[in-house]
Amino acid sequence: MSNGEQSPLLGEGPSLGQQARIYRRAPVARATIYGILTAVFVVALILGSVYWEKLGGYVGHLPKDPEKAAKRLLDVAPIIDGHIDLPILARSRFRNNATAVDLNGELYGHVDIPRLRKGQVGGFFWSTYVGCPKEDQVGEDYLNATWLVRDTLEQIDIAMELIQKYPNTFEFVGTSTDVMSAIRRGRIASLLGVEGGHQLGNSISVLRQFYRLGVRYVTLTHTCHNAFADSCGMEPGIKPRWNGLSSLGKVLIEEMNRIGMLVDLSHTSDDTARQALRHSKAPVIWSHSSARAVHDVPRNIPDDVLSLIGTDDTRTDAVVMVNFAPYFVAEEGKADVAAVADHVEHIAAIAGRKHVGIGSDFDGISSTPKGLEDVSKYPALIAELYRRGWNRFELSGLTGRNLLRVMAGAERVAQDLQAMGLEPKYDVYDKRLDL
Ligand SMILES: *[C@@H]1O[C@H](CO)[C@@H](O)[C@H](O)[C@H]1NC(C)=O
Ligand SMILES: *[C@@H]1O[C@H](CO)[C@@H](O)[C@H](O)[C@H]1NC(C)=O
Repeated sequence: MSNGEQSPLLGEGPSLGQQARIYRRAPVARATIYGILTAVFVVALILGSVYWEKLGGYVGHLPKDPEKAAKRLLDVAPIIDGHIDLPILARSRFRNNATAVDLNGELYGHVDIPRLRKGQVGGFFWSTYVGCPKEDQVGEDYLNATWLVRDTLEQIDIAMELIQKYPNTFEFVGTSTDVMSAIRRGRIASLLGVEGGHQLGNSISVLRQFYRLGVRYVTLTHTCHNAFADSCGMEPGIKPRWNGLSSLGKVLIEEMNRIGMLVDLSHTSDDTARQALRHSKAPVIWSHSSARAVHDVPRNIPDDVLSLIGTDDTRTDAVVMVNFAPYFVAEEGKADVAAVADHVEHIAAIAGRKHVGIGSDFDGISSTPKGLEDVSKYPALIAELYRRGWNRFELSGLTGRNLLRVMAGAERVAQDLQAMGLEPKYDVYDKRLDL
């Protein structure tokens, strides 16, 4: 792979200061240098015009043909997907038996190694999800004993077993720089995310243990409210429990900021999202959410929330990784590549192109958009946006760099808070009577 300065994934070119320094020389030396530079330039021009297509990838210029352009871009800036549900498929179909899961063959569902490679995937968050408990089982204060923490540990385990089963393909990572170095080695950077506060057993200690096991985001809610925050549910009209974050939910976010666990706002209610954006000191993510103005379902993000995202002082940095679930994308039968691109463009129009990403939800959805049937199809979405005028820097932001910026931002906040000597949070859920 080319060096970092030429790769859209890693930055936007060499510093101008470096270039300027070269020219501050004595006049005679300068004439010589200009001569040499001119000769080099002419040779480069000739080579360039002959090998334009080949050289294009190297210097970052993309060919006109959208399919070729997508492939070229993804060579240097591969997809980093915010949400893939392979572990829950392993649970429901294979009883979490990694021996039985053959990722080199064509696996049931949307994900296996040949298709990941074809789709030019450089990394993804393995979602470690277990479903919401029934409300009458868990009780109105979420206090009855459940198996949710055990089941989450099992999902972390099966994800790790599958990552380790294919060491030449997957590399388990926990930081933004580790993601980049795994990609540079040709591996698929593998991160873990926990998809719901209900999986934390009402406990901030459990949050810290999940971090120690390698988990790097927690979605504040799934489709149910929990001790920390309100969910948006699935259907409109769900009654809030806390009107956003509970007081323990605010402490949870503070601890997530301190340890470097990303706050994921997919599945949360609009009030939870607004309050979390205000409360978080670190950049946040939506691991798999689309735009409500494009398709009006509660799981999508309204414009007023999107407008709170940004990098100035009054906003919070974030990346919204667009969900492919047809039910969230468009009217029945109308979800396709163009419709998903509409979500990307709408989020970009409100929040900015630096704030979009991809969170397909593959293996967690029962149907898929036309043209985005599995992980081999991401290039079609990149080609579509290229056709709509997105340049290579904007596209490489979408494919992964925006997410990496947000991860790096959250890592810095954690370092700063720890350097300040901020104490861990020892708050206990106030409805618990055992502690
Ligand atoms: C796990 O899967 C393998 C391969 O299909 C099978 O041979 C083995 O018996 C399974 N293990 C259990 C405990 O079911
Ligand atoms: C759960 O807790 C509630 C109290 O909140 C109790 O009334 C109910 O019987 C419990 N349900 C189960 C299945 O244990």
